[in-house]
Amino acid sequence: MVSKLTEKAFFYAVLTASDKGSRGEREDASGAAIQDILGSIGGTGVAYTVVPDDKDEIAPLLRRWSDSGEIDLIVTTGGTGLSPRDVTPDATLAVIDFQVPGMAEVMRAESLKKTPQAMLSRAVVGVRGRTLIVNLPGSPKAVRECLEAILPALPHAVETLRGEARECASRPELRQGRG
Ligand code: MTE
Repeated sequence: MVSKLTEKAFFYAVLTASDKGSRGEREDASGAAIQDILGSIGGTGVAYTVVPDDKDEIAPLLRRWSDSGEIDLIVTTGGTGLSPRDVTPDATLAVIDFQVPGMAEVMRAESLKKTPQAMLSRAVVGVRGRTLIVNLPGSPKAVRECLEAILPALPHAVETLRGEARECASRPELRQGRG
């Protein structure tokens, strides 16, 4: 159960990269898990699609969604590993303006506490325009573990990209652990 972290509405899109899913051969439990979690913290889903593991399908969609001006957060699932068809991080790197390494690092660090296979995910997090793009691995278990790891900073990231954030220094709730 994820606690409600923000009362602020934000708009998100989910992109599932899966060859099998795109052919209708696999139910997309991971996309559903993302929607569950983001819905529980005040997110509204505005777009969702399942595409093959193909950079030429993933990158244009990430561009279009980011540039729509209507999506604060895009979460992808799948295609972050080492197989030749795992291209989601590469598609993401092709479209973002800059990376947010700390968010990817914390996902891997938390995931490593659950499984050594976590080091095999090449997931990246980055920003295009005012949209945060987060890669997650493909399994529903990995989706929950990774997304929950970054939830504490997600609302502030979205607010900052929207230009709505006040300075961290003036917000006690963002200063936990600083003594
Ligand atoms: N991260 C978490 N938290 N939990 C997991 O079960 N699975 C790993 C890793 N990251 C896993 C995880 C495995 S088995 C792989 S191969 C890589 O993510 C890449 O997964 P993907 O190719 O489905 O994106």
